Amino acid sequence: MKEVLTRAPNETERLAAHIVFHLKGDGREERGTSTIVALQGNLGAGKTVFVKGAAESLGIDDTITSPTFVIVKMYPIGIDVPWKQLVHIDAYRLESEKELNSIDWKTLASDPKNLIFIEWPEQVGLGVPERALWLEFEAVDEDTRKIVLPDTVSLPEHFV
Ligand SMILES: Nc1ncnc2c1ncn2[C@@H]1O[C@H](COP(=O)(O)OP(=O)(O)OP(=O)(O)O)[C@@H](O)[C@H]1O
Ligand SMILES: [Mg+2]
Repeated sequence: MKEVLTRAPNETERLAAHIVFHLKGDGREERGTSTIVALQGNLGAGKTVFVKGAAESLGIDDTITSPTFVIVKMYPIGIDVPWKQLVHIDAYRLESEKELNSIDWKTLASDPKNLIFIEWPEQVGLGVPERALWLEFEAVDEDTRKIVLPDTVSLPEHFV
């Protein structure tokens, strides 16, 4: 695992853009399923800010707001990347199996056209697969956030 410190929200957004670039790959690999980024960390740790940065890097104009009350929001992607849709899920208030069915997680998670960001992935047994990119966010002080990511993610030098 490696750690990245960001010192302002826009740095977290920039990190997100780099990670999207990393996930995009060289376009030659087979994609039989969705791409999932699981965002762990406390309230206010910067997970939604990260999704906002990812969305901006994909040319999504809509403002990303926390989907807490609707659980899931979808944004079409209009640029030439492996995905057609960004899916933003906030599982914080997901409380029952019934709600789980209402977002149809299995269908979303199996569609290779989806790039899925999920906050609070540990909630109610959504069954976020091991293959997801798991990132952990932590507030260090008012402006600083620590993001823990696997070594397999390559980032430009100034980020490490
Ligand atoms: N380095 C930083 N990176 C990201 N956000 C920061 C940073 N420094 C300060 N912040 C502030 O921290 C807050 C992060 O809020 P955000 O909604 O992204 O948290 P969250 O992890 O999604 O929380 P929740 O679990 O409640 O959804 C924002 O108000 C943002 O301005
Ligand atoms: Mg959030």
